[in-house]
Amino acid sequence: KSTLARAIAGILPPFAGGVVFDGRELGRSARSRSADQLRQLQIVFQHADTALNPAQTVEDILGRPLTFYHGMVRKPRSARIDQLLDMVKLPRSLRLRRPAELSGGQKQRVNFARALAADPKLIVCDEITSALDTVVAAAIIDLLKELQRELDLAYVFISHDLSVVEAICDDIVVMYRGRKIEQITPEAMARPEHPYTQLLLSSVPKLDPTWLDNLRQDPEQVRAYCQR
Ligand SMILES: Nc1ncnc2c1ncn2[C@@H]1O[C@H](COP(=O)(O)OP(=O)(O)OP(=O)(O)O)[C@@H](O)[C@H]1O
Ligand SMILES: [Mg+2]
Repeated sequence: KSTLARAIAGILPPFAGGVVFDGRELGRSARSRSADQLRQLQIVFQHADTALNPAQTVEDILGRPLTFYHGMVRKPRSARIDQLLDMVKLPRSLRLRRPAELSGGQKQRVNFARALAADPKLIVCDEITSALDTVVAAAIIDLLKELQRELDLAYVFISHDLSVVEAICDDIVVMYRGRKIEQITPEAMARPEHPYTQLLLSSVPKLDPTWLDNLRQDPEQVRAYCQR
């Protein structure tokens, strides 16, 4: 999944195939894409920690894309940094902090604000909440939905968390061993066709004390798909 996300973002050239965005084929690597194509497609990584330069302040981190994509400097850039912090609901007082002085949820909000700084059309979100406390993760999902409405954004949202997928996605692609095996809508999640999707969906623990007792999984399916 992360490999696919990197190929979409042009960080890793695909071994085969290509990426079509907004009806146009994108270059295989970021280097071969135009500045505008780079701006329109941003990525937020799985690990909030390693995505942020520990030596830079929040202000530096958010200021860079503003200068790079929009040529902003000094006052307008500073004002935009405040706006971005407001958008991701971080206090402006965090401007001069470095990543080590932030919580996991705050770091992921900074990562998201950095993506927003470009004014993208699409943000690839790779497991952006999987390392967070559930309550913090829920707040980030809420924020994502709000920004999606306000800014007319699209996401490629990669997640293991099927309740989050159901809540945020309009279209769902199920991958198995690096390949797409099924495409469904949240409404159709109750009756998937592919046996792997059936296995995947039935394996999610439910808030039901008898869930495990009533779990009936076909041993043949389990053998076929759970070798890793
Ligand atoms: N640059 C690379 N070159 C070669 N192989 C790679 C590269 N990056 C990842 N891989 C391999 O590709 C496979 C898929 O990795 P990937 O990170 O895409 O998985 P993932 O679906 O995101 O997993 P997770 O759910 O743990 O995040 C792994 O076996 C990994 O070792
Ligand atoms: Mg991954």
